[in-house]
Order: sequence, then structure tokens, then C-alpha cells
Amino acid sequence: IVRMSDLDLRGKRVLIREDLNVPIKDGKVTSEQRIAAALPTLVSALDQGAAVMVMSHLGRPTEGHFTEDDSLKPVAERLSERLGREVRLVRDWLSGDFTVAPGEIVLLENCRMNMGEGKDDETLSKKYADLCDVFVMDAFGTAHRAQASTHGVIKFAKQAAGGPLLMAELDALARALETPKRPLLAIVAGSKVSTKLELLGSLVSKVDQLIVGGGIANTFLAAIGKPVGKSLYEADLVDTARKILADAKARGADIPMPTDVVVAPAFAADAPATVKSVDDVGPDDMILDIGPDTAKAYADIVMKAGTVVWNGPVGVFEFDAFGKGTEALARAIAQSDAFSIAGGGDTLAAVDKYGIAGDVGYISTGGGAFLEFLEGKTLPAVAALQSRGI
Ligand code: 3PG
Repeated sequence: IVRMSDLDLRGKRVLIREDLNVPIKDGKVTSEQRIAAALPTLVSALDQGAAVMVMSHLGRPTEGHFTEDDSLKPVAERLSERLGREVRLVRDWLSGDFTVAPGEIVLLENCRMNMGEGKDDETLSKKYADLCDVFVMDAFGTAHRAQASTHGVIKFAKQAAGGPLLMAELDALARALETPKRPLLAIVAGSKVSTKLELLGSLVSKVDQLIVGGGIANTFLAAIGKPVGKSLYEADLVDTARKILADAKARGADIPMPTDVVVAPAFAADAPATVKSVDDVGPDDMILDIGPDTAKAYADIVMKAGTVVWNGPVGVFEFDAFGKGTEALARAIAQSDAFSIAGGGDTLAAVDKYGIAGDVGYISTGGGAFLEFLEGKTLPAVAALQSRGI
């Protein structure tokens, strides 16, 4: 892949695709992680004297039906503040009828308002390409989408390159999965096995240990014949969970099971929390976290790991009474010498809550893209960059 850092951008019109799809409430950005991650790329292009056009999507608006709720205006405001210079938001930009001088930066309004964006339309892709001398794909978080702004444009741009953020994400993931320091531990948790099935299947052939948590762990507990009471679990995937356990065993990967859990009679912040052995979960119990013995055992595994890949909290950490397991793992990840990589919305919320951001080796801006990479899938935007050569 040609990297943006390999190119001379001076005086060039540079179109940079970022993933500035951030949560917005009442017109204000509520989490800036993706904006912060994109800044170094933008600063670098500006410092080189490029005329910078930033392109991003926000949410999933209906193409051709743009409303103010779909506007990147709050993002333009935050970008302006963080860059310390005005970032003009350009509303009608497809015609190219706007100006941007070298050393100047504009943000192009939500690219998902353009007809044909979602289906990777060639005519639209060519219009994007015509806007610039160089197209930079930096939106790792959207690299799993084959859309006009992430994929099609790469084919038609005069020059196409991977941006620093995209390349850093790919480098970190390759370090964790392709050339990991062993033991390689993956922590995969979350409410449903069904959403992580492919991931679990692909990881068992790569990792030395796999810790499962949340509803996923409950389905695994059911698979080994433990009672799960009223816990969230997927009865129709119990056989699949059993197969994953057998596969892991055959490949020498260890999937440790919880020995104790924190249960409650209801899914609520103030529900009374009780620690129980996994053998003693009653018919009315809901498992909402791993227990202290399990948390300690898992933290020990983290401390001995060479590499840790983390996706998903192991308990309902939004409720403090059920967050101790996730906190113990987060602290172990922070303390361990392992190279760690964390990704996914809930995981990043846990990283923030326990204040360990500075102690994680790499924090991915990707949700779906992070998962698809871990599943071993080729990300269409990355494949398109690869096919443009080095
Ligand atoms: C994300 O938040 O995962 C990315 O921005 C991609 O968004 P999408 O799922 O709407 O394509």
C-alpha cells in the first residue's frame, strides 16, 4: 500500500476519507475518540501545504434525503476547536464548486447523502476522484464497507494512499494477530454468541487462550451442562458453543470457563448482587458478571500473556455492582507487559470508565471493521489500496 507519508502533498488537492461517525446528542459530540485519532493525519497534510478536503459519513441517512440531523456541523465545530483554525463545512460539494487553498482545510458534508454512495456507484466514485490530486483512505472504522467513498474512489483517483491512522491500525492488528508475541490471548465478550460466532470460530485457530464473557459465556456454560437460570443466553447455539470448545481443544487453545459468577434477580443497577459457584446458579438467577475467583484467574492469564486482543466487557459494567470482573481484566491489561489491542464501542467505554487508555498498547477506532479484521476477512478498502500497488 502506498502510504500518505510517501507522497509529496505540497500544493496538491488532497481528499481525505476519515471516519468521523461520532455520537452526537443535542447538537454536541459526546465522544471525540475518532476525531482525536484523525487529527494527526489532517495536521500532517496541512503542514505539508496540501489543500485538504475531509470526507466522512455520519449515521445512516437515506441517500438524497438530507436533514439537519445528518449534518456533520457539530463535527466541523469540534475539528475547528481542536485544530485551532476554522474548518469550513461545505454543503453542496459534489460539483466541485467550492474553493480550498493550499494550507486550508474544509469538511465536506455527510457523504452518505450522495446518491450511489452505499452501492459503490462508479459515476459517484469518479466524481469524488475528480475533486482531488490525491485520495487518502484513513477511515479504518469504515474500511469494511465497499462504498463509493471508501472503495470505488480508490480505483479512479489519480493517486491513492493509505493514511497514517489506517496504516497504524493495520500495523497494530498485524502485530497482534500475524506476528504475535505468545501466548496470544483473546477476550471476546458481549451479549450474543450469534454476533461473534465467526470471530470465535476464526480465533480458536490463532490464539493460545480465549476468554469468553457476557451472554457468550452463559451459552458456553450451558454447553458444558451448567445451570444458567434466567441469564441471557442463546439456547439454539449451545451445540455450536460445544463445537467451538471441541475445536479449541483439538487445536490446543484453552477456553477457561468461569468457576464463579455474580448473579441478581433482575437486570438493574440496584439489583442485589450475589456471588455463586457456577454449579449453584438458581432458576431465577441472572448471571451479570464473572465472580472474584474467576476474575483473579483471568487476570493471571492476562498477566502471563504476550499479546492480548480485547473485544467486549465480561459483565454489565455500566452497573457498578456488576463491573468488577471487567474492571479486574482492564487493570490486568493495563499492568501487563503484553502488547494489548482493544476495540469495539463497549470495550472503549470500559477503557474510559476504568481510565486505562494510556496503558493499552493500541486502541482501535473500528467497531465492525475491527471485528471483521479479527475474523480474518479482507477489508474492501484495504484490498482496493493494495490493488493500486506500492
Ligand atoms: C462504525 O461506526 O462502525 C463505522 O462508522 C461504520 O458505520 P456503518 O456501520 O454505518 O457503516
